[in-house]
Amino acid sequence: MLELIAGLVLGFWTICLGILLWADCDIWTFMHLKFGNDIASRFEGKVVWVTGASSGIGEGLVKELVKVKNVKIVLSARRKEELERVRKECLGINKSARPDSVLVLPFDMVDYDSHTPALEKVIKTFGKLNVLISNAAAMGQYAFWEEAPISSDKALFDLNVFSLVNLNRIVLNYFKNERGRQGHLAVVSSLAGKFGVPYLTPYTPTKYALNGYFESLRNELRKMERIHVTLLCPGPVVSNIGDNAMTGTGEKFKNSKFSIKPSNIMTAARCGEICLAAIANKLEESWMAPLPNLPFLYLATYQPFLFAKISAILMKYLVVEEK
Ligand SMILES: *[C@@H]1O[C@H](CO)[C@@H](O)[C@H](O)[C@H]1NC(C)=O
Repeated sequence: MLELIAGLVLGFWTICLGILLWADCDIWTFMHLKFGNDIASRFEGKVVWVTGASSGIGEGLVKELVKVKNVKIVLSARRKEELERVRKECLGINKSARPDSVLVLPFDMVDYDSHTPALEKVIKTFGKLNVLISNAAAMGQYAFWEEAPISSDKALFDLNVFSLVNLNRIVLNYFKNERGRQGHLAVVSSLAGKFGVPYLTPYTPTKYALNGYFESLRNELRKMERIHVTLLCPGPVVSNIGDNAMTGTGEKFKNSKFSIKPSNIMTAARCGEICLAAIANKLEESWMAPLPNLPFLYLATYQPFLFAKISAILMKYLVVEEK
């Protein structure tokens, strides 16, 4: 009997370790991708609003979503032309999707006054909203910690955190008033919201802040089982988020000494697929990144002491030279 239990436990941990060392998402998400609700049935007939839909993860996500039957998609970002391009490409991916099933709704996230009218436009067009996927974000500065001016910290918190919190509050009020209907708030955070990435402030702290806001909200909503909160934490994904980032000295990040090698970067399409599966299964949090990011994140989360010791050594090889 004891041997059987020991065998089962050992088998369980071997499988977990296998997934951990091989999968591009966390174990729980991986299991749901394989055996959980499929994206097609969960999103059928739903109205899904995606901010930051003009490129990167947002674009990858809507291009997966358009394959779902009768789904209605709202594309938001600042740049109307880019949204029109994404819309056209979406309708090219699924030729039987109706042209009026994809709405282009451009607005600037930091223009707080535009949030309520934007929601009203969604409701007026599709009659309801089921899922908001908040993905709008900028990278901001990529610099030595002491070099960044405080104005850039404030500006990035405004865009990455406060604008998103404001829009989610408005949508949450709408969900709460829509009695009997399911509502889902999904927020694209980052692996950078799970451990302190060097040179990546204030981006890293904005993502920590998002986790704090939405973990609190999730716990506040525990009694209200019809409204869900999902935190999505991707690692590096192919996108142009770094294009406009500056270093502390005003140099373009892309050409700077901080620039990351493009190896081990996830495609936007794969990231979008994992995000949709996490939402379809109402997961509370989902991590996605190619190796070797996730084993480190497990360590950082479950063995913080050990992680601190390892990163003390590792960071010596990763950080650029002191001036
Ligand atoms: C495309 O859209 C139509 C209409 O919503 C839907 O019936 C179909 O399943 C979709 N999927 C693909 C892969 O074309």
